[in-house]
Parts: sequence; C-alpha cells; structure tokens
Amino acid sequence: MAEHNTSEERADDMQTQQAIAVEGLTKIYGTGESRVAALAGVSFAIDAGEWVAIVGPSGSGKSTLLNLLGLLDRPTAGRYALAGRDVAGLRGAELARTRGELIGFVFQSFNLLPRETARTNVELPLVYAGVPGAERRRRALEALDRVGLADRAGHRPPQLSGGQQQRVAIARALVGRPTMLLADEPTGNLDSATGADILDLFAELNAGGVTLVVVTHDSTVAARAGRVIEIRDGRSYERDTVRATPAQVAAPRQLQGVLS
Ligand SMILES: Nc1ncnc2c1ncn2[C@@H]1O[C@H](COP(=O)(O)OP(=O)(O)OP(=O)(O)O)[C@@H](O)[C@H]1O
Ligand SMILES: [Mg+2]
Repeated sequence: MAEHNTSEERADDMQTQQAIAVEGLTKIYGTGESRVAALAGVSFAIDAGEWVAIVGPSGSGKSTLLNLLGLLDRPTAGRYALAGRDVAGLRGAELARTRGELIGFVFQSFNLLPRETARTNVELPLVYAGVPGAERRRRALEALDRVGLADRAGHRPPQLSGGQQQRVAIARALVGRPTMLLADEPTGNLDSATGADILDLFAELNAGGVTLVVVTHDSTVAARAGRVIEIRDGRSYERDTVRATPAQVAAPRQLQGVLS
C-alpha cells in the first residue's frame, strides 16, 4: 500500500501512473491570413484512472487537443508524454501500435464506414491489431451489447439513428480494451436517457481503471467527471481557478525527467 512506501517509491509510482502530460502544446493551422492558433500553449497532466471533462466554447480548440492526445495529429510545438513516454519520436507501425494498445477514440463526427455493418465497424481496430476472426466477432458483439445495440449488429450506419451511430462509435472505441478512452462529445446526439446510460457505462469503465477524457458541451456530463479543464482562446484552465490564473504552470516535478 502507498502509505508503506518511501517517498522515493511514491515518486516512482506517480511517474508510472501519469496517463497524459502535455507542456506548451501548440497547434497552428494554416499560414498568413488564414493562420489560426487553435492551441496556444496548453499544459496539464492527467493521472491514470482520472475522469476529466474538457469544456469550452465552440472553436476553442477542444477537438484539436483531443486529436493530439489521441495521436491522430502532431502538435506544431510543445511536448506530450503518453503513459510516461514522449510520443514525438513515434512513427509508422510503432505509432499505430501505441495508439491501438492504449487509446480508444470516439470522434465528434463518428467516422463510421457507411457500407459496413455495425459489427464490422466495431471489429476494425481488432483487424489492425491482428485479432483472429472468430474472436473479433465475439468481442464486437460484446461491445455492441454493452452500448445496448446487440440487435443492430447487422445494420449499416445509414440505417441507424444518429444516437445509434454514436453508440457504435463508442463500441468501436471500447473493443480494443484501451487503458484510456478519449471521447469528443460522446453524448451530443443522444436523448437524455441514452446519454445517462452511456455515462453509467463510462463510470463503470472508470471504476475498472480506464482513464477518461471527455470533451463535452453538456454540464451534466461534465458534472460526472472528477475534474474539469476549460479551453478558452487556445489555453487551458482548471475549472476551479478559471477566474484566477491560467493553468499554464510548469509540468509536475516528476514529469520533468520524462519531458526534458
Ligand atoms: N484542419 C483545420 N484547418 C484549419 N483550421 C482548423 C482546422 N481544424 C480546426 N481549425 C480551427 O481551429 C479552431 C479550433 O477548432 P476545434 O475543432 O478544435 O474547436 P472545438 O473546440 O472542438 O469546437 P466545437 O465545440 O465546435 O467542436 C477553430 O477556429 C477552427 O476553425
Ligand atoms: Mg469539436
């Protein structure tokens, strides 16, 4: 137990428990007159097992941030350590493997393949991971069942409602059993009852140790999180200190080694 550890061991534990650490994360889109600083230097750390909501006005940089955290895009500047490892040097197959092993991603726009069934869409990350067919099918059906869509496994996205497509996207994010789930407005297209079911599912995952980072406009979703980070004008603020100083603080001490 932690209380029996020496302080040095505790520092080690904290380092291994860091799911995400970003420092000065910056993303510039375009050049000249069309130049947009979507993120203007964001710094924060998220421990393994945390449930963090990311909130902020439309266009403030939430999806941009989540895409960087999900290794779907690269920052213009700044550093990102994922599970204690600087990701800047990851390329190709290693990048894909890291993403596949650690991260489940729910896109704001679902990104489902319209011609494939719900089951095949959910299976896709397992295809990339080299999981055999029968096992893939079993796990895809299990994931669809978890989001209440077992009876729609054979439907294609155009035959599903917006909320059902969203749940397929959530099942696809969960099927690889990620240690971290990044979700962009996961309840944005759901009625309040279905949204509450998804939040209960998230709570269950979080209780099982999955780190959750959820972008949301919905205050009931943010209220379920243990912590709220607000993005405004490309900068991040801890919700409680939003009127005081920006959370542009140096990364916690135990990170310095990882990030430098
Ligand atoms: N590929 C891109 N090229 C150019 N500009 C972009 C691109 N993607 C996003 N932006 C700009 O970056 C800013 C942040 O966009 P982002 O999608 O991260 O906002 P958001 O907070 O997710 O908004 P919303 O709540 O509406 O989803 C916006 O001003 C947007 O116009
Ligand atoms: Mg967005």
